[in-house]
Amino acid sequence: MAETLGALLNRQASAITGREQERAQLARLLEADGPVVAYVHGLAGVGKTTLLHAFAADARAAGAVTVELDGHVTYPTQRAVLSSLGAGEEPRLEDAVAALGARGEQVVLIVDTFELLHMVDHWFCRTLVPALPAHVRVVIAGRQAYDYLICIETGRVIEFNSEKLKKLRDEICQQHGFDPLSHQFHIYGISREAKSDGKKKPALGTREVQ
Ligand SMILES: Nc1ncnc2c1ncn2[C@@H]1O[C@H](COP(=O)(O)OP(=O)(O)OP(=O)(O)O)[C@@H](O)[C@H]1O
Ligand SMILES: [Mg+2]
Repeated sequence: MAETLGALLNRQASAITGREQERAQLARLLEADGPVVAYVHGLAGVGKTTLLHAFAADARAAGAVTVELDGHVTYPTQRAVLSSLGAGEEPRLEDAVAALGARGEQVVLIVDTFELLHMVDHWFCRTLVPALPAHVRVVIAGRQAYDYLICIETGRVIEFNSEKLKKLRDEICQQHGFDPLSHQFHIYGISREAKSDGKKKPALGTREVQ
């Protein structure tokens, strides 16, 4: 019989350059004495999704059942997350964790684009994950940055993380008796490239007079 699409997808997912060390680290999740949760983080485009696809193929080849959830697809609400785990119309935590556990003898929940689920990340990590059956393993991947410089001329986005901003956030929250779960800080402005480009070209609506 001709090769199936599933087999082809598995082969493509495994065909990545390098990342042997990261794949080996994730593969330890499948070992009896290995870690139970892994967090893959990094800047945009660094290869998190590609690594997750390769790991998912590795995990399936080792006999595990993989269940994938993506912040691009699932709304950042508890209800949507529970529904996508198979809890039905009226999702309850107990039903969702039971449904996930029933998928197989070894189940790996793979959550990608976790930064888009930041509204529920506290609940996810503190409530959902601890409630999962012991034969479920979890891999979470998301962008590392919380702070962004956004150039309004070129559209370039520069990501950064600032401990100082995080500290300031915590101080402000404390003053208001507010528990911070996550934050994003966007600075809109003109990047270095846009400024040096602007020196070469006349600005819109002006004329160069020599
Ligand atoms: N190890 C790799 N081998 C081959 N191609 C790779 C590898 N890592 C990433 N790529 C390629 O780089 C591009 C970006 O990778 P990917 O989408 O995995 O990044 P990401 O970290 O998930 O980005 P984002 O933060 O936007 O979700 C893709 O086209 C992918 O095919
Ligand atoms: Mg990605």
